[in-house]
Amino acid sequence: MNIQYLYFCVFTLSILSQKSNCADPFYEACAPINCGKHNIRYPFYIKGQNSSCGYPGFELNCTNNEYPVLQIPQNNYIVDQFFYNNRSVRVYNAAVLNVETGCLPQIRNLSLDNKFSLVNESAELVLFTNCSMNVSSELLRYRVKCGEWELAMLRGDAEVGVAMEECRENVVAPVELYDGDGVDDYGGLMRRGFVLNWTASDCSVCEESGGRCGFDYAAYRFICFCRDRPQIRGCSSGKSSFPRFFLKIIKIILDQQ
Ligand SMILES: *[C@@H]1O[C@H](CO)[C@@H](O)[C@H](O)[C@H]1NC(C)=O
Ligand SMILES: *[C@@H]1O[C@H](CO)[C@@H](O)[C@H](O)[C@H]1NC(C)=O
Ligand SMILES: *[C@@H]1O[C@H](CO)[C@@H](O)[C@H](O)[C@H]1NC(C)=O
Ligand SMILES: *[C@@H]1O[C@H](CO)[C@@H](O)[C@H](O)[C@H]1NC(C)=O
Ligand SMILES: *[C@@H]1O[C@H](CO)[C@@H](O)[C@H](O)[C@H]1NC(C)=O
Ligand SMILES: *[C@@H]1O[C@H](CO)[C@@H](O)[C@H](O)[C@H]1NC(C)=O
Ligand SMILES: *[C@@H]1O[C@H](CO)[C@@H](O)[C@H](O)[C@H]1NC(C)=O
Ligand SMILES: *[C@@H]1O[C@H](CO)[C@@H](O)[C@H](O)[C@H]1NC(C)=O
Repeated sequence: MNIQYLYFCVFTLSILSQKSNCADPFYEACAPINCGKHNIRYPFYIKGQNSSCGYPGFELNCTNNEYPVLQIPQNNYIVDQFFYNNRSVRVYNAAVLNVETGCLPQIRNLSLDNKFSLVNESAELVLFTNCSMNVSSELLRYRVKCGEWELAMLRGDAEVGVAMEECRENVVAPVELYDGDGVDDYGGLMRRGFVLNWTASDCSVCEESGGRCGFDYAAYRFICFCRDRPQIRGCSSGKSSFPRFFLKIIKIILDQQ
């Protein structure tokens, strides 16, 4: 007698499961994506991916399908390591990629906005150019052999003041300095990179509930793309029990027959 009811249930169930197969387009679009050996996810997204998949200002250019490049005003930085757990990245200036040791092309000063901050900067490398024809003898030991730069020293060196007077242009680059390091191989020093931490809405609640974090440009705020629909913070967990509920009813009906 309940056979019609059973058909109704099966019909409803099939519609429901169809609906859950058809995931939210943003959820689908925002799957973590690879760039070289890196797995890129919120707050970062790759140029070409839907910009709602990341936080504003966290676009990466996946250069040569290998290097995730962060374009911080003035310089491009290659992201060497992502530390999603403590929200930081190790980066190095893209200018040092593929250059011979000590032959660095033109670079600019690092200029950070409020999204990224330097973590534990241990030293500052100062590079000088447009120096007077014959720099004073005390500066000779800082001369570099090739590249755009004429002198390389550390911010703390006593002769920085003299160099500032004798050279018309300088840039400052953060470096991690360990005991015994000199600046002769300043390209190698820069290749080591440095750590930047980032500020963006926290993703953990959304991620732990099975969602993918993103940004709602219309409302201009963080959003959590859940499998079925976007939600404000995280995905509620009750949803998936719905089809199971129907299955249970069908089982009860079948048992009664
Ligand atoms: C991002 O994806 C959504 C959903 O598919 C689409 O409506 C929107 O136009 C996309 N935006 C961009 C910039 O591609
Ligand atoms: C971004 O990457 C593409 C392909 O790797 C490259 O052609 C383009 O010049 C890059 N753009 C910038 C601004 O670096
Ligand atoms: C995050 O962890 C990595 C690896 O443990 C470390 O190198 C990096 O300095 C840490 N970042 C911050 C902001 O502490
Ligand atoms: C980033 O690091 C700086 C310097 O260590 C610290 O003052 C700041 O609180 C950190 N910011 C975040 C979001 O962790
Ligand atoms: C900061 O850098 C110094 C070396 O310059 C290191 O001894 C120290 O452990 C670093 N601190 C953190 C929190 O990474
Ligand atoms: C440095 O020198 C070059 C050529 O000698 C010149 O074109 C440039 O304007 C100079 N830059 C500065 C900041 O003096
Ligand atoms: C180079 O140095 C010498 C001696 O210190 C000085 O006489 C000469 O004027 C300097 N030349 C230039 C171009 O600065
Ligand atoms: C880079 O910053 C230093 C001070 O931190 C400044 O003396 C120098 O003029 C700046 N260079 C350029 C090219 O803006």
